[in-house]
Amino acid sequence: MGDFLWGAATSSFQIEGAANEDGRGQSVWDTICRTKGQVANGDTGEVACDHYHRYAEDIGLMKALGLGAYRFSVSWPRVLPRGRGAINEKGLDFYDRLIDGLLEAGIEPWLCLYHWDLPQALDDLGGWLVRDSVGWFGDYATLLGRRFGDRVKHWATMNEPNVSTFFAYGFNLAAPGFPNHPNTLLCIHHVNLAHGAAVDALRSQVHGAQIGCVHNRQPVLPEHDTDGDRAAAAAFDEHWNLAFADPQNLGYYPPGIGAAIEPYMQAGDLARICRPCDWIGVNYYDTIWARDTPWTNWGFGFGDAPAELPRTEIGWTITPDAFRQELLRVSKSYRLPVYVTENGCGSDKDAPDGDGRVNDQHRIDYLRQHVAAMRRAMAEGADVRGYFAWSLLDNFEWGAGYSQRFGLVHVDYQTQKRTPKASAAWFARLIKGEEHP
Ligand code: FCB
Repeated sequence: MGDFLWGAATSSFQIEGAANEDGRGQSVWDTICRTKGQVANGDTGEVACDHYHRYAEDIGLMKALGLGAYRFSVSWPRVLPRGRGAINEKGLDFYDRLIDGLLEAGIEPWLCLYHWDLPQALDDLGGWLVRDSVGWFGDYATLLGRRFGDRVKHWATMNEPNVSTFFAYGFNLAAPGFPNHPNTLLCIHHVNLAHGAAVDALRSQVHGAQIGCVHNRQPVLPEHDTDGDRAAAAAFDEHWNLAFADPQNLGYYPPGIGAAIEPYMQAGDLARICRPCDWIGVNYYDTIWARDTPWTNWGFGFGDAPAELPRTEIGWTITPDAFRQELLRVSKSYRLPVYVTENGCGSDKDAPDGDGRVNDQHRIDYLRQHVAAMRRAMAEGADVRGYFAWSLLDNFEWGAGYSQRFGLVHVDYQTQKRTPKASAAWFARLIKGEEHP
């Protein structure tokens, strides 16, 4: 695997902290954290891993791992506190320092424009529900492209647009259905248009840019072998796996969604969305089982996974062969180089033992199985060029707060002490070619 790229990923809100420093504006996630009952233990992103101050130490950890690349995201409200208009130079300066530090360490920066932390000021104006969001995102992309494009060549427009869209607007699971179905459709379309606008902006600003979008892919299987559940699985797959990747790369919505989006479509929109990309990112964790739910607007819902499947410590099913299949499907469908932009294993138990060591054998097993599945997919023809572990560090895991740890490196949130886990040593050996999953 000579030229194969090994990296690790993080995101701004999950690690940076310094939420009220140097002019950073508020994001929707600051608001969510302040809303009672939304995040476990009332955790917030105010300090997180304090990466804003400890980025140099964190680059040292990456170097020790032997990473070829580091995928991170920029906090939109840190550089544009109100989402548009006045620029916060101190915010841009932070990313200059980070990027320069990475390059000095010989680590390729992979910059993601958007990993869910929409500026609150833009959400107050309607966020992704208003078509103006397309222009806001395009302008933001222009700003970053112009500022960092001399040094950053690998760009992701967005991280997992399906997750942010469906969890924000779609999966209000309150019976008897999903009351905000039209909002979800609007959001899907605007986010896709924003992706297209960002590709154009980056293309015009960054010489030699390598641009892609990062998609969460979860194969969807019927919960029961019935016609209803099989149809539910097909519809769930269209919405979850294809609603963004297909229009962005093929120029059309999957049939079940296209008709529903039609009312929001303007002439030329599909061409605005489908701008040539250089790669496609796949984030993979597990599989979805779908259940027929005809009383809801979508007609599908989450079913239960087969009880006999192995699970991670936080209960996610472990299905590496589905990863192999999904990589083959993505590679074949879009004919773009594929990068695994996230894959990893969560735990609510990782902790240093008496000797200060974190022995996360369960994570090594998970990673080994998934790297092996990826290699099988490659042997079968999938054009996979790189793999980023999620995550470099334990971090703020959204609604689960700090209760779920995905890091190769353990973070003690009281002291901010970083301790590479056993999985970090394993990953470093893998990169050196000393492990053969
Ligand atoms: C993905 C997210 C990432 C992290 C992992 C566990 O869906 O992109 O931020 O939360 O899941």
